[in-house]
Amino acid sequence: MNSSTDGARPAAVLNCGELVTLSGPARPRKRDEMKDLSILRGAAMLIRDGKIERVGTQAEIEPLVGPEHQVIDAGGRTVMPGFVDAHTHPVFAATRADEYEMRAGGATYEQIAAAGGGIRSTVRKTRAATEDELFATALRRSRWFLRMGTTTIEAKSGYGLSLESELAMLRVIRRLNAQGFLRLVPTFLGAHEIPDEYRGKTSEYVDLVIREMLPAVARDNLAEYCDVFCEPKIFDAANTKRILAAARALHLGIRVHADQLSRSGAAEIAAEVGATTADHLEQIDEAGIHALVAGGVLPVLLPASVYTLGSKRFAPARAMIAAGLPVVLATDFNPGSSPTPSMPFVLSLASTQTGMTPAESVTAATINAAYSLGRGALIGSLEPGKQADFVIHDLRDYREIPYFVGIEPSYETYLGGRLVYSRRENG
Ligand code: NIG
Ligand code: FE
Repeated sequence: MNSSTDGARPAAVLNCGELVTLSGPARPRKRDEMKDLSILRGAAMLIRDGKIERVGTQAEIEPLVGPEHQVIDAGGRTVMPGFVDAHTHPVFAATRADEYEMRAGGATYEQIAAAGGGIRSTVRKTRAATEDELFATALRRSRWFLRMGTTTIEAKSGYGLSLESELAMLRVIRRLNAQGFLRLVPTFLGAHEIPDEYRGKTSEYVDLVIREMLPAVARDNLAEYCDVFCEPKIFDAANTKRILAAARALHLGIRVHADQLSRSGAAEIAAEVGATTADHLEQIDEAGIHALVAGGVLPVLLPASVYTLGSKRFAPARAMIAAGLPVVLATDFNPGSSPTPSMPFVLSLASTQTGMTPAESVTAATINAAYSLGRGALIGSLEPGKQADFVIHDLRDYREIPYFVGIEPSYETYLGGRLVYSRRENG
């Protein structure tokens, strides 16, 4: 492994064919701002104490490089901030490859869920696993994100659905974060589904979430956000509001799975409860878009789940951008509707299926995503003072990230100036 990697010494990243900085206003980017990536060509970057010290042209930076610097040669490649994946479900036991095969044969996601599969099947397997087993599988899968150029993920619980099992999932997320190769932002999603033992007793399960789970999550400081799967047949408007009001009272931020399978008015609920994000939104309409604008809610679009479920109904990204919403893109990595950790694939779908340009989708997957996680001042762009979370992509043009669909573009991934993934040796 290249010696310029441990993050302890100051470093200089030289020979960046293009340095995609995303420098700009210190807030989520909207409308035409989403097209402006502030690219420097023939550029370089200085790093000190894990943070970006200075960004400029090679001619400006090279004279400042001294013997104390470790030199990272980008070899003319594209250098970008690490992707910030603002919606994932990375802790789960087993997979649902069997259901994937059933869907290929014509069964729908809703039919499989109604027959006891879907989220509940992952819950049974997750409950049966030990915390160490969950950690080991999540650790292996977490490393996949680095190969895609992702350095931060939001990570939800939601396959435990009992006090003990939900807390165990969140402890796994905390342990993953402590490994130091990927940043994880924890979200409590106890209201992901009604578990088997509470079928037909939704309000009792909601009581359990409010009276036992949420206070324990807050007491142990295990989550920054609370999320609810808001759907009429799962957590309806009234139950969603009850849970989110309780979460708010405990000072948790709010994210909502909204208007995914039906247009239930979840976008309006997200605005009403002061959510930071409303996620999915495949069924949203004009009124819903206006509610998000009025409520200052960021839409998190998850096109890989639409693709995996074989649907053609993608969220209306163009209408959202036209309305002034700072769109965010994420993978929704999970064992059912979106078994992919690939932000490059998500960017590709955003271009081909929703008409977002590569520049808009890069903005949605970096700086806007960082703001959606309350970390806009720390990550999401390459600006002095921010964490040195960056990726050298094995490409010469950032537009090739969505264009070369299916490749793993990262050549090297750095977190806080430390090398966390490399294929330099393999060529
Ligand atoms: O975001 N919509 C609910 N939750 C996930 C699916 C989880 C699963 O199928 O296991 C989603 O698509
Ligand atoms: Fe999800």
